[in-house]
Amino acid sequence: MIIPKLSGKLIFGGDYNPEQWPEYVWEEDMQLMKQAGVNLVSVAIFAWAKLQPSEDEWNFGWLDRIMDLLAANDIHACLATATASPPAWLVHKHPKMLPVNSEGVTLYPGSRQHYSPSSATYREAAARLVDKLASHYKDHPALAAWHINNEYACHMPECHNEESTISFREWLKRKYESIYQLNEAWGTAFWSQVYSDWDEIFTPRLAPYCSNPTQKLDFKRFTSDAFLELLLMEKAILRKHTPDIPVTTNYVGFFKPLDYHRWSKEIDFTAWDSYPDPLTESIGRQRHAAGNDMMRSLIPGTPFVLMEQTPSAINGRETNLPKRPGLMRLWSLATIARGGDGVMYFQWRASKAGTEKFHGAVVQHVGAERSRVYKEVAALGEDLKKLAPVADSAIKADVGILFDWHSWWSVEMDSKPGKIDYFEACNQFHNWFYRNNIAVDYLSPDSDFGKYKLIVLPSLYMISEATAAALEEFVREGGVLLASYFTGIVNEADHVYLGGYTGPLKETLGLWVEEWRPNADGEGNRMLTADGGVSFACDHWADVVHVDSAEILARFGQEYFAGQAAFTENRFVGGKAFYLATRPDKDGLEWVMHQLCRKAAVDAVLKAPHGVEVVLRQKGEKEFLFVLNHTDETISIDLEDYTGQDLLSGIHVAGILSLDPLDVSVIQL
Ligand code: GAL
Repeated sequence: MIIPKLSGKLIFGGDYNPEQWPEYVWEEDMQLMKQAGVNLVSVAIFAWAKLQPSEDEWNFGWLDRIMDLLAANDIHACLATATASPPAWLVHKHPKMLPVNSEGVTLYPGSRQHYSPSSATYREAAARLVDKLASHYKDHPALAAWHINNEYACHMPECHNEESTISFREWLKRKYESIYQLNEAWGTAFWSQVYSDWDEIFTPRLAPYCSNPTQKLDFKRFTSDAFLELLLMEKAILRKHTPDIPVTTNYVGFFKPLDYHRWSKEIDFTAWDSYPDPLTESIGRQRHAAGNDMMRSLIPGTPFVLMEQTPSAINGRETNLPKRPGLMRLWSLATIARGGDGVMYFQWRASKAGTEKFHGAVVQHVGAERSRVYKEVAALGEDLKKLAPVADSAIKADVGILFDWHSWWSVEMDSKPGKIDYFEACNQFHNWFYRNNIAVDYLSPDSDFGKYKLIVLPSLYMISEATAAALEEFVREGGVLLASYFTGIVNEADHVYLGGYTGPLKETLGLWVEEWRPNADGEGNRMLTADGGVSFACDHWADVVHVDSAEILARFGQEYFAGQAAFTENRFVGGKAFYLATRPDKDGLEWVMHQLCRKAAVDAVLKAPHGVEVVLRQKGEKEFLFVLNHTDETISIDLEDYTGQDLLSGIHVAGILSLDPLDVSVIQL
């Protein structure tokens, strides 16, 4: 029950920006919302200037009327704290609060998110606004949840202004305590970078050449923390006034600037915004699934909300395709399938002016009555009412992919042997599990590994000794581990583990890596199975591996390390640790993953035809099987032993299920 006031329901609604419209439009909004089954709207997200027209002038009358209208229509508010776009008068009075990029360029107002996260002025002004809002609306019947800020760090991922520089120094002092420790951690003996005083340290601004990697890594950590401090500040005020109203902030999916593992310890439920590109549908739906899986995993066992998606097109790409008929419903239900308890839109009514006037909305410029989009939204509202029994159920995954923000930050910095795209490295595995309908969670380095049968570490460049020890324990206790190339290279300070790569994982994996042979685009190698039976193409990278206790399952076919290990298995009494020293092609990956899944006793929820997504949600004794047809064909699916009532059609299903193109079946088993 992520929002107690909406208990037992799936959440449905969107960003509602009535401040852009005359009041006579609001009545129509209410009527259309009710007709569509909307039960939650995010209000006031960018309304700071309207709420506080000048320093000591407050204007809540319009929002009072909106909140009353919502309550009268049995619609709840996820009330925003409105702090994402500071008003012009504030910035005019305090220009030092503006953010500065790494080149020293000030980012001016006129858009949004024009504030430095370290600005004391911004913090004080935001705190004052949040306090006013919370004390004013704390007892309002429409208030169901708080929406803190909006997409923190989006557009403005880091700031190098004076206050940020000073705050960075303070953060470093807290972390290292002495300048000696900082010098050690940053390896400043290299290139004469030694510091003798904290004031000599800057944020990593544009420099003649590559800046110190640990300095850059610490700055990423500092920045994620600086934004988190803003959230914590707002949360503390909200808790004081409304201890029982849940708080959230909308995440941006796999968003590099913020360590969402750390952030998720501080919010009551996860909310995220997903804008997959309908131009490349099959890529889009998998990325949407990966995002949903990450969001579900951030607070284990707790459903999440898709806070923003477009009902049709967006306006930020070069070519912005609307979602074709049926696609919005399908991708919305895909979120519910993967553990979401609600879907919402950006935005309710299409703006008449401003940057996002061509962004799709529930009420398009043409109006609701004549609009395909509105009709599809209202129909989804009906579907979600039928799916209410699903609310609060969870997904049990046997597989975990370890995804670490700190490793992401460091592996993608300059001056590496080759280029690693960390999201893609992880996504290759997610995509495989997704296509094979095997449920997967994303794990952090301090997750409870014992819950899983199979854990994958895709190119986990940075690993602590503690995480390595926990993974070893996981394998000794019977788990199956797969690590892929360029794993276990450095510790948390980005210092190399000496004596052979894979560092603290050497014993677990039963091997060591001597050096790397990254491939340029178009270059590759071959991976030959140990029995010589089959060979697969592989590319991107090759580790030069020396095995100790590991058995070689496949060898490289070319280069000076031909014959050396490309894929290995190290057996323990309990579990097994596999190592994949390269990136195999599609068939090679199939061969690798099938072995792993067999050995880990991990299987698909249901063997379904290509393009059919199947997920199982569970709540106590109750089970719900989601079957989604992402293809343009009518597909017959053998349900094997699954039988039950389709909550959407009301029909009892068993045996062969026939699904129309883009259609969905949710079977309560
Ligand atoms: C999100 C943002 C919304 C809106 C939307 C457009 O990133 O939170 O305010 O701008 O994108 O796609």
